[in-house]
Amino acid sequence: MATSRGQFNTRIGFILAAAGSAVGLGNIWKFPFEVGQGGGAAFVVLYLTFCFMLCFPVMVSEIAIGRKTQLNPVGAFKKLGHGNWSIIGLLGIIAGVLILSFYNVVAGWAFGYFVEIVQGNFGIGEQFPEYIQQIFKVGAYGIIFMTVTAFIVSKGIAGGIEKASKILMPTLFIMIIGLIAYSLTLDGAMEGIKFYLVPDFSEINGEVVYSALGQAFFSLSLGMGALITYGSYVSKQQNIVRSAALITLTDVSIAFLAGLMIFPFVAYLSNGSMEGVAGGPGLIFMTLPGVFESLGPTLGVVIGSVFFLLLSFAALTSTVSLLEVPVAYLVDEKKIKRPYAVWGMALFIFVIGIPSLLGNGYVESLTSFMEIHKEGEWQTKGFMDFVELIASDTFLPIGGALISIFVAYVWKTNNLNEEIAIGRENAIPLVTKYINFAVSFICPVILGAIAITTILDRFFGVQIF
Ligand code: TRP
Repeated sequence: MATSRGQFNTRIGFILAAAGSAVGLGNIWKFPFEVGQGGGAAFVVLYLTFCFMLCFPVMVSEIAIGRKTQLNPVGAFKKLGHGNWSIIGLLGIIAGVLILSFYNVVAGWAFGYFVEIVQGNFGIGEQFPEYIQQIFKVGAYGIIFMTVTAFIVSKGIAGGIEKASKILMPTLFIMIIGLIAYSLTLDGAMEGIKFYLVPDFSEINGEVVYSALGQAFFSLSLGMGALITYGSYVSKQQNIVRSAALITLTDVSIAFLAGLMIFPFVAYLSNGSMEGVAGGPGLIFMTLPGVFESLGPTLGVVIGSVFFLLLSFAALTSTVSLLEVPVAYLVDEKKIKRPYAVWGMALFIFVIGIPSLLGNGYVESLTSFMEIHKEGEWQTKGFMDFVELIASDTFLPIGGALISIFVAYVWKTNNLNEEIAIGRENAIPLVTKYINFAVSFICPVILGAIAITTILDRFFGVQIF
């Protein structure tokens, strides 16, 4: 029964929830530094192409599978295919659990930074490596973050996820616009914008193409059934294709805006030299507090705390979606009551996230956990990178490839088309044709190839590109 599982009350509620899932640390933390490393605007062009040409058809498929079956990923594949296909759903649920286990750790950092900056502690940027080793402090922020996430998910779809998204997403948007307006007034802002928007195609290589694709997929929350799950709470009045387009558009817009906000800050700090962008993952946690400090004590606290609150809100609507997937599985398949499923899962995921928490300097064996082959060389990486490699770099593209194969060759595109026709007015036939073509050929081939080359390169050092 659909109603006892819960449903989104409004169209915009679903779109905001799904966009909330998509907009996260990926957009605001990862996207800008990937742009920095991948040749500025050249990366942006690739990213946009992948989002619309490759990811959008997968998104439509996921939502359609969810709405058709009104079930969690495991139940959905079982219902539409044969029992064996439910392995795609299971893979997705495992990926979700693993992603949330480390994602929550980083979300905890973001929230901890908010608390530090509110108190005027700008030195936190320089202390970042030490900060993340204070495991009781950082662990406590992780617990707070997981608790808030679980609280929202425990309230169900309309009363929890939808309501939270309707508050958090508009707030996030206002904060980002406010910060952009401010950052553009800074000295050197134009240098930052130039770096961001003038493409340097010479920076494009295999590695960049591949991280743009991975980023697009991760950022849109695809490949693990998060949108199958959200789709299962969508009513038959909703236009799936239009919703998917709006979700994609919102996600890329927020990523784009995050760049507009961050690059002027970096340019200001570096007097236009854009040095900080090479800092990779440290861009936000190490470089930005210094920028806020230079704005003076009062303004710095205001701008800086708004920034880290924004980051925390973005992460929160994503952790909610990550938790909802295993919860929906337990509720539908194992008949466990939502509150038990939520709090049990949250605790379990927090616990398996502990090695990720400890692997940032605190425990040596987890900090230097394994050798991963990246950018042409073997690099010693921590446990968190290992989980990210398995779950998001490997499982998501495999999941995406299998979902497309499933839709095209098991469920069949005419059934997909039938489902997406429901609630869809003014359909553009060419869009349907493209979606069919993409899930039948482009997505399985490219996503499958990405999964295989990732495994060969990262684990075995065999570089194809
Ligand atoms: N898309 C989110 C981000 O960009 C992360 C995320 C939330 C996610 N749910 C997901 C990624 C499901 C993959 C699958 O930060």
